[in-house]
Amino acid sequence: MINLIWAMDKNQLVGDGDRIPWHIKEDLLYYKSKTNGKVVLMGDTTYYSLKSYYKTKPLPYGKIYVATIDKDLVINDELNEVIMVYDLISFISNYKDELWVCGGATIYKLSLPYADRLYISFVKGEYKGDRYFPTIDFNKYNRTWENDTDKVLYTVYEKVK
Ligand SMILES: NC(=O)c1ccc[n+]([C@@H]2O[C@H](COP(=O)([O-])OP(=O)(O)OC[C@H]3O[C@@H](n4cnc5c(N)ncnc54)[C@H](OP(=O)(O)O)[C@@H]3O)[C@@H](O)[C@H]2O)c1
Repeated sequence: MINLIWAMDKNQLVGDGDRIPWHIKEDLLYYKSKTNGKVVLMGDTTYYSLKSYYKTKPLPYGKIYVATIDKDLVINDELNEVIMVYDLISFISNYKDELWVCGGATIYKLSLPYADRLYISFVKGEYKGDRYFPTIDFNKYNRTWENDTDKVLYTVYEKVK
């Protein structure tokens, strides 16, 4: 089961450099409630960005797969179990257990065709940034859950089999 989880604004913006363009606490809590202790996959940019927030604290995940195309890059993380993924497509197309894809823009784009479930937080409003989620063909998915708040429309989509 491949889950993608992300937040995006009305223009499908997800990031600004290595940062998220907004700070919405309720969305962070939602994201944490879904991914806490889970096996996750992320790009190295997102991994380093998260490390700069958490500093000396461990990231709140189980195993962390970090994608890079730099075969010389080995991350030695004393606080988390980190496994390098050098060939993302082969990894994700053969992955059989529960996996949470946590970004960023590049990794979402490459992973989207393999996703079984999309956890999309539609952030209300328009922000500035330079990393976007790719176009999604919503005909391929059914919306199975939603929760609308002042700031965010939280949704879950299941791929039509
Ligand atoms: N809104 C959200 O929910 C959300 C969530 C997470 C992140 N973000 C945002 O997303 C942005 C980061 O996105 P990003 O696209 O710059 O970086 P990213 O997706 O985190 O990582 C990109 C890296 O993935 C590696 N990569 C690319 N193709 C690969 C492949 N085929 N196989 C294995 N590895 C591959 C490359 O690493 P090398 O260069 O080392 O080869 C590339 O630099 C930030 O702004 C962040 O805040 C947003």
